[in-house]
Amino acid sequence: MDWIIHPLPVLRGTLGVPGDKSISHRLALISALARGRSLLHGFLDSEDCLHALDAVAALGAGVRRHGTTVEVEGTAGALRSPADDLDMGNSGTLTRLLAGLVAGFPVTVRLFGDASLQSRPMRRILDPLRRMGADIVAEGEGERAPLRIRGGTLDGIAYDSPVASAQVKSALLLAGLRARGTTRIREPAPSRDHTERLLHTLGLPVVRAGLQTTLQGSGGLAPELPAREWHIPGDPSSAAFWVVAAAAMPGAELTVRNVGLNPTRTAYLDVLREMGAAITVSSLREAAWEPQGDVTVHGSNLRGVEIGGARIANLIDELPILAVAAAAAEGVTHIRDAAELRVKESDRIETVARMLRAAGVEVETFPDGMVIRGGATIRGGGVIESAGDHRIAMAGAMLALRATSPVTVRGTACVATSYPGFAAALRSLRG
Ligand code: S3P
Repeated sequence: MDWIIHPLPVLRGTLGVPGDKSISHRLALISALARGRSLLHGFLDSEDCLHALDAVAALGAGVRRHGTTVEVEGTAGALRSPADDLDMGNSGTLTRLLAGLVAGFPVTVRLFGDASLQSRPMRRILDPLRRMGADIVAEGEGERAPLRIRGGTLDGIAYDSPVASAQVKSALLLAGLRARGTTRIREPAPSRDHTERLLHTLGLPVVRAGLQTTLQGSGGLAPELPAREWHIPGDPSSAAFWVVAAAAMPGAELTVRNVGLNPTRTAYLDVLREMGAAITVSSLREAAWEPQGDVTVHGSNLRGVEIGGARIANLIDELPILAVAAAAAEGVTHIRDAAELRVKESDRIETVARMLRAAGVEVETFPDGMVIRGGATIRGGGVIESAGDHRIAMAGAMLALRATSPVTVRGTACVATSYPGFAAALRSLRG
């Protein structure tokens, strides 16, 4: 599927975005372990998250979906081996978190996914999970998926992760739930903390101190997790497409309602403010289990900025759309310390650079980032290839709004993995 995107001089309006993908994934898994019925409101009904629901149903949970509200009847920690292999689709988050979870339970599971998923690195979870005693065979070349897991009771470990990755940290915390002893993870920089917040809200013994997170396991007994009702905030990574598009258009005025404002996810707003964007947050509900509020943007002329260091983990998924902000800004933007971009749904250093070049933007790539020369005219008439990567397709569409004439974005079916209503939202903002 292709989109032909016509230029839009100014973006105005108010919209909501679908539920947070990271939180939806985690709630599917954790509700499946709980005792009783959990109600998940605002669940993201995208392909990745529907794979998560199918997976927990195959592991014994009762799942009923009414649009974006999902009822999960938990197994009270008694997962069963699925009859068939589990399809992870495009989702690295689901694969890594579920691998950690099932490794700690007496079940046998095989996880597979699409070509992109099966090209993604899995050693980052396999090494520490095997140190905990997990029996996992990676069938793909270079220890990639499909993964065959024979779960059982694990032993807690102390692990210094070489990457700041919420997926690694969460895989180990979920593996540690039923383990003997304590699981301790130290990260080189803070990564998103949704798993810790969820477990803490449910009363589990998870303790955070600086870059270290510790969880006491239940020693081979079924971990006790109560069921409850959850309201999932809008995904800041989806909101970022609209926020950037409006921020870089003088005269634009846009509000995104009920967006997640977890401090481990909001560095994209800080970067945009450094670029000169006028952004305000209102109706902030800070005390909620996940902070959330409304984000309003007034468009202006942006300037180039340096993006690197410890905050990269906090905005890694927003770098494709921040590259669009950089293309619109006056001056040079340097993205560094972002080698992780190379192992996302596509090699996002190359796919972002190709997206920008297709619109005439000058960009130089490096092993861990890129330099973008902003301020040039965004050339219309070209073709942006998504490379099967949802965030490249959506960032490409936002870049095309600024072009001199229509631009084709090719291969947009992948957008359904994270934001199925994106094209409809763009149409409704156009009026
Ligand atoms: C995610 C964590 C990030 C992010 C991904 C979702 C999560 O990956 O890029 O889209 O839900 O834990 P890493 O933690 O591997 O950086």
